[in-house]
Amino acid sequence: MNEISVSAPGKFVILGEHAVVYGKPAIALAINKRFYMSVRRDNEFKINNEAADIRANPHLKYILGKNDMLPVSVHMDSKIPTGSGLGSSAALSVAFSAAMRSLCGGSLDESEIAKEAFEAEYFSQGRGSPMDTSASAHGYGIALNAQCEKDELLWEITKNEHTWNISKINVPSMTFVIGNTGVRAATGPLVEKVRKYKDSNGFAADIVDDIGKITLEGMNALRNNDIVGLGELMTKDHKLLSILGVSSNELNKLVKASLPYAYGAKLTGAGGGGSMVVLTDTPDKVCDAISSHGGSPFVVRTGVEGVRVSVKSE
Ligand code: PMV
Repeated sequence: MNEISVSAPGKFVILGEHAVVYGKPAIALAINKRFYMSVRRDNEFKINNEAADIRANPHLKYILGKNDMLPVSVHMDSKIPTGSGLGSSAALSVAFSAAMRSLCGGSLDESEIAKEAFEAEYFSQGRGSPMDTSASAHGYGIALNAQCEKDELLWEITKNEHTWNISKINVPSMTFVIGNTGVRAATGPLVEKVRKYKDSNGFAADIVDDIGKITLEGMNALRNNDIVGLGELMTKDHKLLSILGVSSNELNKLVKASLPYAYGAKLTGAGGGGSMVVLTDTPDKVCDAISSHGGSPFVVRTGVEGVRVSVKSE
């Protein structure tokens, strides 16, 4: 019998969150924190060697339904912190999609996996963009809604009359520190807050445009390996996101404490709490600064591969 081993990376948003909701570009980078999973046929459904109804998890249920519903034993081990905007549920969906496709003889094309995993996320959450699942499937870096060269376009995803184009960015290996504020903040109300502000205030619409421009500049900085320029754009983006009202005292405190040791720093994801990210070549100093200001830091590297599958015949 075959055992399929899969891994898929987490991600963070480096530029463009919130503005992406209005069709502006956004960039997500895959990180060296991965979701590991192995899957094999069994006579009942099991998770980590215990009998468990896998179909109770909506992500897994959706993917099972697209492949086959025969019992499988799934072993999972995630190194991606949950609930901090680092794409752990997307990595789970990508890993399970790849594993089931491999088990059922389906296509292991990255674009097919990214699309199926996005549908699983949508099925589970009733909303969302394909940013996290595409970043996890492809790895390295991806941009959403960006005008790109023909050879940079990875795939397009359409849902409810909305089409996103996903392009690749060949990201260098860089060191970032993620700082978690420990404050949980749901994405939905923050997206709604920006929408109301934008609808009622022309300046807010200008800020969204400015974030879009900064993100395009960030794509060029990444293409040219311009770390200094990229850091400056991150800090500018944080200021614009603060004006939009999605930062918080905790996030601002961690950004300010990190900047003396960094090329740039900003909140990442929806904001309001959650995590911030720092581009630095002195990660120890940044970790100390974050810890001494109440945050929980960890170091990540970029330039990592997307979903990987290996098959062991028993
Ligand atoms: O918190 P995250 O990592 O899911 O990021 C949300 C990003 C937003 O732009 C705020 C919302 C979205 O759907 O793109």
